[in-house]
Amino acid sequence: MSDQAKRRLEATANHLSGSSSLAPIIKVAPESTTPRAAGKVVIITGANSLLGIGRASAHQFAQNGARAVYICDFDPSNLAAHKAELTTLYPSVDVHTRQFDAAHEPSVVEVINHAMNTYGRLDVFFANAGTIGPNALFTDVDPSGFMETMRVNSLSVFLAAKHAAPAMQKTSPGKKVPGGSIIATASVAGLRSNAGDTSYSASKAAVVSMAQTISYQLAGTGVRINALCPGLIETGMTAPVFEMARQRGTQKKIGQLNPLKRGGHADEIARVALFLGSDESSYVNGQAWAVDGGLSAGHPFVPGRLG
Ligand SMILES: NC(=O)c1ccc[n+]([C@@H]2O[C@H](COP(=O)([O-])OP(=O)(O)OC[C@H]3O[C@@H](n4cnc5c(N)ncnc54)[C@H](O)[C@@H]3O)[C@@H](O)[C@H]2O)c1
Repeated sequence: MSDQAKRRLEATANHLSGSSSLAPIIKVAPESTTPRAAGKVVIITGANSLLGIGRASAHQFAQNGARAVYICDFDPSNLAAHKAELTTLYPSVDVHTRQFDAAHEPSVVEVINHAMNTYGRLDVFFANAGTIGPNALFTDVDPSGFMETMRVNSLSVFLAAKHAAPAMQKTSPGKKVPGGSIIATASVAGLRSNAGDTSYSASKAAVVSMAQTISYQLAGTGVRINALCPGLIETGMTAPVFEMARQRGTQKKIGQLNPLKRGGHADEIARVALFLGSDESSYVNGQAWAVDGGLSAGHPFVPGRLG
């Protein structure tokens, strides 16, 4: 046996017997095989839609051991059914429902206060509620239409951050270290053109900007904020596009502009939300996370001309 092989064998034996002289790796979070949101108190807005990113995310956080999940929406039509489903699947998780407009400040304050008074902690605020906007050429959009998109998509994120960040910095007997994760759903439309109308794109660019600016204003607090930028995902918002394509037999064309050549599922966004809300992402801050099948990685190209 060569010297090198002997040394490798010795190192392996030492490692297995626990007597390795190597310094241990500093681990920042529990093993990824354990529940990744254990004990966390989580608020999610835009959680009513059956197909939506909010509902899928509530399931991810509940399945991963959250202490409590607040599912919030201005449309309450499915909230009770969501709660019943989550409670049946994950009986140890407290599920709360709230009907409110995500851009209504007193309601945002109320749900955060409830979490703090009940659990003494807030760990994750997923500001996910959003509207598609007027979906018209910018010359045809009136100021109220423009501002309504900004109100729902941008102001809601501002209010979530404004009130969640101070709450996340509070400690309690069950939470010894201050900190938390604010996640805001932006969009690839907030990164560049062609994924929404002017007001929608501007409102989502504002979300990306807020994640950048607020992350610095939270310097030293332990509270992180990131924007999530989905590509084309089949949800309540986009269902008509998918349904029409199915009716026409053109569903294969959906998502053809991204290198995965398909639309995404809400669960594919929810899993990134879970990561951003967990301690596994403890050094991820102030970023815009594109989850878009690669769409925003490239420039437009003519299929067949380039590899
Ligand atoms: N589906 C996509 O392709 C896509 C792409 C990029 C970004 N997004 C963003 O993802 C987020 C979630 O949307 P989705 O795709 O799951 O659509 P969805 O329609 O399935 O869910 C959106 C939810 O937000 C709720 N909502 C709307 N306005 C609200 C308000 N003012 N207050 C409280 N709740 C409100 C709706 O009732 C709905 O339940 C949105 O911010 C959306 O802009 C979606």
